[in-house]
Amino acid sequence: MSRIIAVANQKGGVGKTTTAVNLAACLAAAGQDVLVVDMDPQGNATSGLGVSLRAEDTSLYHVLIGQAQPGAAMRDTALPHLKILGSEVNLFGAEMELAQLPNRERLLTGALAALGQRFRFIFLDCPPSLGLLTLNALTACQGVLIPLQTEYYALEGLTQLLHTVARVRRAWNQSLKLDGIALTMYDGRNNLCRQVEDDVRGHFKHLVFKTVVPRNVRLSEAPSFGKPAILYDPKSTGSQAYLALARELMVNLRGGGASEGEQTRREAVA
Ligand SMILES: Nc1ncnc2c1ncn2[C@@H]1O[C@H](COP(=O)(O)OP(=O)(O)OP(=O)(O)O)[C@@H](O)[C@H]1O
Ligand SMILES: [Mg+2]
Repeated sequence: MSRIIAVANQKGGVGKTTTAVNLAACLAAAGQDVLVVDMDPQGNATSGLGVSLRAEDTSLYHVLIGQAQPGAAMRDTALPHLKILGSEVNLFGAEMELAQLPNRERLLTGALAALGQRFRFIFLDCPPSLGLLTLNALTACQGVLIPLQTEYYALEGLTQLLHTVARVRRAWNQSLKLDGIALTMYDGRNNLCRQVEDDVRGHFKHLVFKTVVPRNVRLSEAPSFGKPAILYDPKSTGSQAYLALARELMVNLRGGGASEGEQTRREAVA
């Protein structure tokens, strides 16, 4: 069965794209077939995986408006098991255009259904807003993974995001749950960072991944070479953290419905 994971947080620059691209790459490097869908008109996941699309190229935009099949729009990446369904500037104006279409929250769900079980994992890299593109991602996924930048205002906006997830669950996606909260850009030498970690763990408990992603310059350099970190610098602390996070995610997903963590993950968005 395909497992579709939306990487979402309406706050900008918290590590959504870095997390989606690198988790996807780690799973693909382990031999799983993985697709990244770039839901963000900024196209950072697309360029970060080495693909450059022009406005006339077939992209996610054409798939969402029903002019192309996802299989025809996706591109290869440097990893044989990893594909990208990319975005370019056309998607900027698309939210208003999509809003006119019937079933506008389910456009992505319909498009991904055409892929059947071709991919084991599909990561949806959401834009920094709670608009129609993010709603499509939350409606199409089974779980949402929330990256939180480990800084003083980390929790700002999180309540609103969880309310939105709960609303999508009620209206369009009854099986939606929280796959977890990942702390990003962590700096263990910084007292404030550790304080924020304690607060977030105290509040969200099992929902927070044990693995934290450190602040690591290799993670920010890799996209300019069009590569995920494990290809750019596999030994870097950033690569190692995403490998650990990918393993933890797999263990959580395999854990099924019995564990305490699993229970919390469902209740968090009920
Ligand atoms: N752990 C990290 N260490 C160092 N730099 C990082 C780390 N994670 C992300 N960055 C850098 O921080 C910036 C923001 O990260 P990213 O693009 O992943 O966030 P985002 O949430 O997708 O942003 P947006 O909301 O604009 O889509 C990027 O320049 C990225 O390279
Ligand atoms: Mg992004």
